[in-house]
Amino acid sequence: MELYLDTANLEEIREIAAWGVLSGVTTNPTLVVKEYAGRGAKLTEEVLFAHLRTICEVAKGPVSAEVTALEAGAMVEEGLRLAAIHPHIVVKLPTTEEGLKACKRLSTQGVKVNMTLIFSANQALLAARAGAAYVSPFLGRVDDISWDGGELLREIVELIQVQNLPVKVIAASIRHPRHVTEAALLGADIATMPYTVFKQLLKHPLTDIGLRRFMEDWEKVKP
Ligand code: E4P
Repeated sequence: MELYLDTANLEEIREIAAWGVLSGVTTNPTLVVKEYAGRGAKLTEEVLFAHLRTICEVAKGPVSAEVTALEAGAMVEEGLRLAAIHPHIVVKLPTTEEGLKACKRLSTQGVKVNMTLIFSANQALLAARAGAAYVSPFLGRVDDISWDGGELLREIVELIQVQNLPVKVIAASIRHPRHVTEAALLGADIATMPYTVFKQLLKHPLTDIGLRRFMEDWEKVKP
């Protein structure tokens, strides 16, 4: 399973990319706004596109950039502009009627699409039929309402395997490291997670204690 960062923050992407384990990045309008809020400068399309281009260069892998239009024609126009930013760009579309129409048109033109806000196996099936390259079920938001995000992911992974559909599953809305393990065991192709969860994947108190003890022992006899 590949590991993606779910962020629009360049420092976070640079830090995790340096570990050598980062395969891609996902962004969404909320993450972009969070990045630019409080900076004072107006977020123009030019500024946003330059930011996305830098993310692509740092991530060196697929970068999902979400459209903000809600009507299919406008989604296609915005999607084509986003796709022209960099070859790594994957156009992210909401799983709605208009999103499906736009997905079909963009994928027919060779643009890679990530269908987002997926909360059922049937939505994933529709997205795959519309030519999506990726589907993003939101585990955390399902768990948030006391349903079973893991069960949603299990169904989607199984459906795609049984139906032999050419689409990758991105386990999204990851809240904690256990979600990552669960997604890997269930056969997700990718898990996209916030920076904090990425850091938590590595941390273990016994690793820190063990290393400290090794170093203390080594200090006693080192040549
Ligand atoms: C997926 O690509 C989304 O950006 C993301 O995972 C949403 O997660 P959230 O529920 O933490 O906002």
